[in-house]
Order: sequence, then structure tokens, then C-alpha cells
Amino acid sequence: MFCSTKMLKFSLFFLSFFGLVLVSVFSVDDPVFNDEIMGLIVFKAGLQDPNHKLISWNEDDYTPCNWEGVKCDSSNNRVISIVLDGFSLSGHIDRGLLRLQFLQTLSLSGNNFTGFINPDLPKLGNLQVVDFSYNNLKGSIPEEFFQQCGSLKTVNFAKNNLTGKIPDSLSLCNTLTNVNFSYNQIYGNLPSEVWFLRGLQSLDVSNNLLDGEIPKGIQNLYDLRELSLKKNRFSGRIPEDIGGCVVLKSLDLSGNFLSGGIPQSMQRLNSCNSISLQGNSFTGNIPDWIGELKDLEILDLSENRFSGWIPKSLGNLEMLQRLNFSRNQLTGNLPDSMMNCTKLLALDISQNHLDGYLPSWIFRKGNYHGLEVLDLSSNGFSGGLPSNIGGLGSLKILNLSTNYFSGSIPGGIGELKSLYIVDLSDNALNGSIPFEIEGAISLGELRLHKNSLGGRIPEQITKCSSLTTLVLSHNKLTGSIPAAIANLTNLQHVDLSWNELSGSLPKELTNLSNLLSFNVSYNHLQGELPVGGFFNTISSTSVTGNALLCGSVVNHSCPSVHPKPIVLNPNSSASNSSVSSKYHRHKIILSISALIAIGAAAFIAVGVVAITFLNMRARSAMERSAAPFAFSGGDDYTNSPENDPNYGKLVMFSGDADFADGAHNLLNKESEIGRGGFGVVYRTYLRDGHAVAIKKLTVSSLIKSQEEFEKEVKRFGKIRHQNLVALEGYYWTSSLQLLIYEYLSSGSLHKLLHDNTNKNVLSWRQRFKIILGMAKGLAHLHKTNIIHYNLKSTNVLIDSSGEPKIGDFGLVKLLPMLDHCVLSSKIQSALGYMAPEFACRTVKITEKCDVYGFGILILEIVTGKRPVEYMEDDVVVLCDMVRGALEEGKVEQCIDERLLGNFAAEEAIPVIKLGLICASQVPSNRPDMSEVINILELIQCPSEGQEELLE
Ligand SMILES: *[C@@H]1O[C@H](CO)[C@@H](O)[C@H](O)[C@H]1NC(C)=O
Ligand SMILES: *[C@@H]1O[C@H](CO)[C@@H](O)[C@H](O)[C@H]1NC(C)=O
Ligand SMILES: *[C@@H]1O[C@H](CO)[C@@H](O)[C@H](O)[C@H]1NC(C)=O
Ligand SMILES: *[C@@H]1O[C@H](CO)[C@@H](O)[C@H](O)[C@H]1NC(C)=O
Ligand SMILES: *[C@@H]1O[C@H](CO)[C@@H](O)[C@H](O)[C@H]1NC(C)=O
Repeated sequence: MFCSTKMLKFSLFFLSFFGLVLVSVFSVDDPVFNDEIMGLIVFKAGLQDPNHKLISWNEDDYTPCNWEGVKCDSSNNRVISIVLDGFSLSGHIDRGLLRLQFLQTLSLSGNNFTGFINPDLPKLGNLQVVDFSYNNLKGSIPEEFFQQCGSLKTVNFAKNNLTGKIPDSLSLCNTLTNVNFSYNQIYGNLPSEVWFLRGLQSLDVSNNLLDGEIPKGIQNLYDLRELSLKKNRFSGRIPEDIGGCVVLKSLDLSGNFLSGGIPQSMQRLNSCNSISLQGNSFTGNIPDWIGELKDLEILDLSENRFSGWIPKSLGNLEMLQRLNFSRNQLTGNLPDSMMNCTKLLALDISQNHLDGYLPSWIFRKGNYHGLEVLDLSSNGFSGGLPSNIGGLGSLKILNLSTNYFSGSIPGGIGELKSLYIVDLSDNALNGSIPFEIEGAISLGELRLHKNSLGGRIPEQITKCSSLTTLVLSHNKLTGSIPAAIANLTNLQHVDLSWNELSGSLPKELTNLSNLLSFNVSYNHLQGELPVGGFFNTISSTSVTGNALLCGSVVNHSCPSVHPKPIVLNPNSSASNSSVSSKYHRHKIILSISALIAIGAAAFIAVGVVAITFLNMRARSAMERSAAPFAFSGGDDYTNSPENDPNYGKLVMFSGDADFADGAHNLLNKESEIGRGGFGVVYRTYLRDGHAVAIKKLTVSSLIKSQEEFEKEVKRFGKIRHQNLVALEGYYWTSSLQLLIYEYLSSGSLHKLLHDNTNKNVLSWRQRFKIILGMAKGLAHLHKTNIIHYNLKSTNVLIDSSGEPKIGDFGLVKLLPMLDHCVLSSKIQSALGYMAPEFACRTVKITEKCDVYGFGILILEIVTGKRPVEYMEDDVVVLCDMVRGALEEGKVEQCIDERLLGNFAAEEAIPVIKLGLICASQVPSNRPDMSEVINILELIQCPSEGQEELLE
């Protein structure tokens, strides 16, 4: 029995596809054959239900009344309502629904139904509400739909893809109260018969393609509350009889091509809450009677061609919340009566021809207590900004841009705690940006460009932590950009261009991780562009017009990394010793009687007058003193009389301490073999015949106490390594200090590489040996915790077997303090070798500064070029050039052409790369010297490694 009914049901199910008549044959009272279940199951069968919303729709049920979205009349259990809004269903709205004879409400809004609208639905005599909004229905609204419309009241087809015309039959369906066809592509005219629908309460055909005039006869709709014809192509005038719709609450005619004036009859629309005529071509004055529409909350007449004055009667609109008159041709000023519109939330009268002073009642405390938007931009207002500007406690948007406001920005602006956007741009404001701006803690956008603001950017602005946009361009701001701005981490757009800002760009700006634009062009900024974050990709147009700004973006290498590259002549030590030479001369004179021979050396540095003077003194001194030096052998033993200032203290760490020629030809001009930042070097011979190099320190005024000097020098003296120049001894008086080094005949690496008179070109193998040797020497220094500080090719000497020896190490330690300033001025001659951290006071200088110099030396050795080359009007920074060539895959072209291609590329290129890594900007990116040795040994070609090319 059960089985057979089931069978029957299934056959019914399939039969139903062939027509309603067949099915209805079986629609007897037996609930098992419930016709409505059949209709709904058929409807369901044609759908996709990805979220299984209709899982409760089961044909085994005796009644559909408990199914999801289905409601029945409790008296007869017949389905009266189907509401499936937002169920994500798709498919067609099937005829199965026509089985639901008692259906009153069919709401399928917010699904994905496709296909056409079923014209027969209204044949369901009880159907009152049809809501198919937010689906994907296509085709036109069928004429038949409204022809037998039964009891249809509400029809909502909004947000589909319907086309065609509004069916004429619509006017036959006089039960209709609410019609919504908005957001489709319906075209043609609005049929005048629509106005026969006397019961109509709302009509929304907005956002379609309707055109023609709005037909007359609307006055019949005395129940109409809402009319929206917004965003169509209606033209002509507003029907004169519109005033007949006396209960109209909302009228929206915006976004059409309507013209003419506002019809007089609208005066009767005094229930109206909202009128929008925005975006048409209306002309004429805003009528005085507008003040009689006392219920108005929203009045939008923007984007038309209204002219004349703003009527005084506006002050009667005490309910007004949003008033938009922007983009018209209104003149005069805001009528004082408007201060009575105390419920205003938004007041926009921008882009008109208003003029005069800004009425101060706008800002009167408590008056416009709810006002959130005030936009009076692009008018002709003048005079100062009222000092009580802080009175608008709820203000979020203040736009007074493009007027003629002058004077300064009142500090009261800081009282506006809700202020989010401030635009005072394009006025004639002067004075400075008030520090009180810090009070505007909600500020997101501050636009003050195109004024005459001066002074500094106030640090206090960092309190406005929500700031995303800061536009201060085209003013006269001075001073530097406060580093504190870097705390405004929400900043996205910053424009400070065309001001008179100076100083450097704070490095902290790289913390601004949300930055999308940052324009500081046309200021007087200088120094290095921050490196990192947004600044790695900043466009050059954002920084142009700052002659002293440097960095790769502006194609201008930085003097902070390579001190004073343009003014500095590396061959002249006179420029930076001119200040000290006076002092120097004085010191020399004091010691002259003790060290006769030094006099000759002093001539080199001192002017003609001094030379004459010194000659006199020297001669007389020579007569008195035959033995200026008291020499001692062994460690730290001296026999010079401590109390005699004419006698110094000479200490030799080992060996014989007797100068072969006595004092006479010690340190004379002929024996000068070099000079550097720390002094002049002379060659002389000890009595046992072995040559020594003597460095006369010229930084005497900066030298530490004798005790400290000796402590440091002795530490250096203990260091012995085949790649380090040995310090053999020293000489000390309070006014003169000498360091005595082992002497190396082949001269410096600098000379071997750059002296054009030198015919012997270093072979690749020799170069590699020098690089490896230097690495070993440096590694040894670092192991004993000594930083060289002053690595450069003139400080690397080559011995007769081609082994490099690094000299001059640690001398910086002899200065009283490791002041960066002193360092950079002393090591200025180390141009190009100086690690970038020397320019940065906050970075600790570690042995990694030597690794940097070593990296530059590698590049110098491989390319045969100086670290910084001076061209006619250009400076070539070796490291940048090689890095660029590497990036372009042309690095082999950098290798010293004097090698005539005679090098092992499989060594040379890795060596160059190693050099670049050692010369990394960031100290921690540079390898340790011990690692460098390992790398070099790996690079060294095994076959050639042992081979010594002695040429
Ligand atoms: C509607 O259906 C179409 C095609 O079946 C599909 O591409 C689209 O994603 C669906 N939209 C929604 C909102 O489910
Ligand atoms: C609307 O219909 C048009 C054709 O009538 C079609 O080109 C368009 O893709 C449809 N839009 C949507 C959202 O389905
Ligand atoms: C018509 O439907 C649209 C879309 O849902 C809606 O925004 C609008 O308010 C409706 N119009 C009326 C008069 O209810
Ligand atoms: C504001 O309204 C009050 C009465 O509500 C009226 O007396 C006063 O004149 C109005 N002010 C203006 C400027 O119209
Ligand atoms: C920036 O923020 C940090 C951390 O909140 C704070 O320590 C610092 O003082 C702030 N700087 C300025 C200038 O406000």
C-alpha cells in the first residue's frame, strides 16, 4: 500500500513537468497528494541550492508548513507565504509555484534567479507581494503580468537585469501601492497612465534608462509618499501639478536632464522630509516659500544652475539636517537666519559665488552642535578665519579651500576633537601652523597647501596619530622636517613640496610603512636621502629641486659617505692643516733647540716667514746642542733627563737604537717618503745599517697624555705579523711624537697601482696575493682587538717578495677621543675608504669599518682605479660603478685593463663580489676578516694557488 502511493507520487512528480492540468487531476483532498507539496517540489527540482537551504523541503512530508521559508494559514494549512531571501538559490522561477492558490507573499530577493519573469504569477488571486529584487532576471516585464493582477499590492523587481519598457498594463493594476523597478535597464517613457494608480504610495524607477518628460497628472496620486525618478534621462520640467501629492515625503529627481524652475505648487508639499533635485539643469532662484516646507530634513539642490541669494526663509527649516547647495551660481552670503537651523549635520555650499566675511555664528559654541560637515570651498569668502572656530564640537569635515581667507589659522582648530578632514588650501593664509593642531586628535587629512604659511612644521603634529594625508605644499614653511613625523605611522600621502624647508630628511621616515607618496621637491633640503622602506622606490620627481640632497635617486653621491668629494683635493693637506699649522709652528719652535734636524722638516709645512724665523732659531740651537737624542736600548728604558724639556724620550722595542747619521740628516726633506693624515714619514738608518721609517705625528695637539700615548703605542709594538708593518719604537716629548717603523723599500700599494711612472704592472697573481695578505694582516689585528680605522692603499706597503704589509694601524687611538668629527676630518684623505657609519653619530664604529675599507681596496686592486676619481665635472665612486656594472652583467669590463685580459675570471669576478659584500652599507652585512680569508682561499684556483708568478 505504502509502496504503491510512493510510486504514484513519483509518477506524479514527473508528470507535473507536462502540465498543471494533469497534476490537478490528482489533487484530491488526500493530504498525501497535497498539491502544494507537488508545486513546491517541482519548484525546488528546478533550482540549484548550493547551501542546502531547502533540505527541509521533503516530498515525504504530509504538509509543507514546516519547511524552511514556508508559512501556512493556520486555519486551512494552505501556504500563504514563501520567503527565501538570501538563500543563494539559482535557476528559474518555475511554474510549480502556480499550484499555491493561497499564496499572498512571494519573496525571492537576494538570490541568483535567472530567466524571465513568469507572466502568470498574478493569476494567483491572493498574491499581494512579489519581491524578486537582487536577482539576475532578464527580459522585459511582461504585459500580461499586470493584466490580471488580482490583488497585487507590492511589486519589487529592483536590482535585476530587466530591459524593455514599463508595460502599459501597469495602470490597470489599481490595487498597486508600491512599485519598485529601480536598478534595471528599463527604457522608454514613463506612461502617463501610471498616474491613474490612485492607491500608489511609492514609485521607484530610479537607475534606469527612462527618458522623455515626466507626464502630467501626478496630482491624482494624493496618497503618494515616495517618488524616485533618480538617475534616468528625463528631460523637460517638473510637472506643475506635483503639489497635488500633498502627503509626499520624499521626492528624488536627481541625476536627470530636467530644467526650468522649481514649480510654485511644490509649496504645498509641506509633509516633505527630503527633496533632491541634484544634478539637473534647473535655473532661477531658490524660492522664498522653501522655508514653508517645515518638515524638510534633507534639501539637495546641488549641481544645477540656481542663482540669486540664499533665501532668508531657510532659517525656518528647523528640522533641516542636510543642506546641499553646492555647484550652483548662488551669490551673497549665508543669511543670518540660518543660525536657527540648529539640527544641521551637513552644510555644503561649495562652488558658488558667495562672498563677504565668514559669519562667526557658524562657529558659535553649541549652536551647530551636531554639524559634522562644513564645506564652503570654492567661493569668494574673504577676511580672517573666526577665532571661535573650535565651537563646532562634532565637526568631522571642514573644507574652506579656494577662497580668499587671510590671516592665520586660529589655534581653536585644536578644540575640534572629531575633526577628520581639514582643507584650508588655496587661500591667502599666513602665520604659522598652530601647534594647537595637536588637539585635533582624530585628524586624518590635513591640507593646507597653496597659502603663505611660514614658520616650522610643528612637532606637535605627531599627536594627530591618525593622520594619513599631510599636504603642506606651496607655502613658505622653513626649518627642518621634524623627525617626529616618523611616528605618524598611518601616513600615506605627504606633500611638502615648494616650501623653504631645510636640513636633512630624518632617517626615521623609513619607518613609515604605509607611505604611498612623499613629495619634498623644491625645498632647500640637503644630505642623504633615507635608505629603506618607501624611500628605496621613491621617484626622483618627489625629491627634485633640492640641490644639496644626495643619494642614488637624485643621482648625486653623498658627501656624508664620501666626505666633501668635490671640494677636496686629495693631494693637498694644506687646506685642513691651515688652522693647525699656526699651532704646529709654535710647537715646532718650542722643540727646535732639542731636535735641530726637525727644523728642516718643519720648513715643508710652514710659510716663508716662519722658515726664516726657524732658520735663525735652528742655527743657534745647533750650535748649542750636538746630541738632541738620548738613545736607549731595550724596552722602556730612557736616559734622557726627564726634567729637561729639550730632551725627549726614545724607546725602541728591540734592537739597536742608534741612528747612523746622528741627528743631522734625520728627518730632512730629502728623506721624506710620504705624508698622511697623521703625519709625515721619513726614512733613516740605524747605526746597524737597517733602515727605519719614522712618522712624525702632526696631530700633536690632539694626542693623549704621555702615559696613555705610551700605553697604546706599546700595545701596537707587541703586534708582529708578516702582513703588518712592525712598530719598532717611538719618541716622545710633549710637543713632538715620532713612531719608528720597519722600512719597506717597494713602496705603497697606492704607488704600485696608480703611479704612472711605474712600468711594472702588478700581475693578477700578485694582486691576489696582496688581497689575501691584507686579509690575513687585518684578521690578525682584529683578533688582538685593534681596529685600524684608516685603511687605504697608501697605508699598505709591499715588501720585496710582493707580500703586503698594512701600516698605520690604530693611530686613531692616539687621539684623545674617538670623536666622529675628528675622525672624519683626520681621515679625510681616506676618501672613498671610509665606511658610511662614520657619518652617523648613532652607529657604533666596530672593526667592520675596516672590512669596508678592505672591500674598497679589493675593488681598487682589481680595477686599478682610485676609490673616487675626479673627472672634469664629475666624481666617479668606484664602489657604485662596479656595483652598477655587476648589475648590468658587465663587471669584467671593470677589471684593470693594464692586465690585458691576463687574469683568471673565475677568480676575479668572485673577488669583485667579495669586495662589494665587504663594502656593504650596513656593517652587519659585511663578513668578518676570518671569513674573508676562508672565502678567498676557496676562490683561489687550486691549480694556480701555489704558483708564484714572479715577474
Ligand atoms: C550567480 O550565478 C552565476 C552563474 O550561474 C554565477 O557566476 C554567479 O557567481 C552567481 N552569483 C551569486 C551572487 O551567487
Ligand atoms: C544584463 O543583460 C545584458 C544583455 O541583455 C548582458 O550583456 C549583461 O551581461 C547582463 N548583466 C548581468 C549582470 O547579468
Ligand atoms: C527600491 O529598491 C531599491 C533597491 O533595493 C532600494 O534602494 C529603494 O529604496 C527601493 N525604493 C523604495 C521606494 O522603497
Ligand atoms: C530664530 O528663531 C527665533 C524663534 O524661533 C526667532 O525669534 C529669530 O528671529 C530667528 N532668528 C533669525 C535670525 O531668523
Ligand atoms: C615617537 O614614538 C615613540 C614610541 O611611541 C616615543 O618614544 C617617542 O618619544 C615619539 N617621538 C616623538 C617625537 O613624539
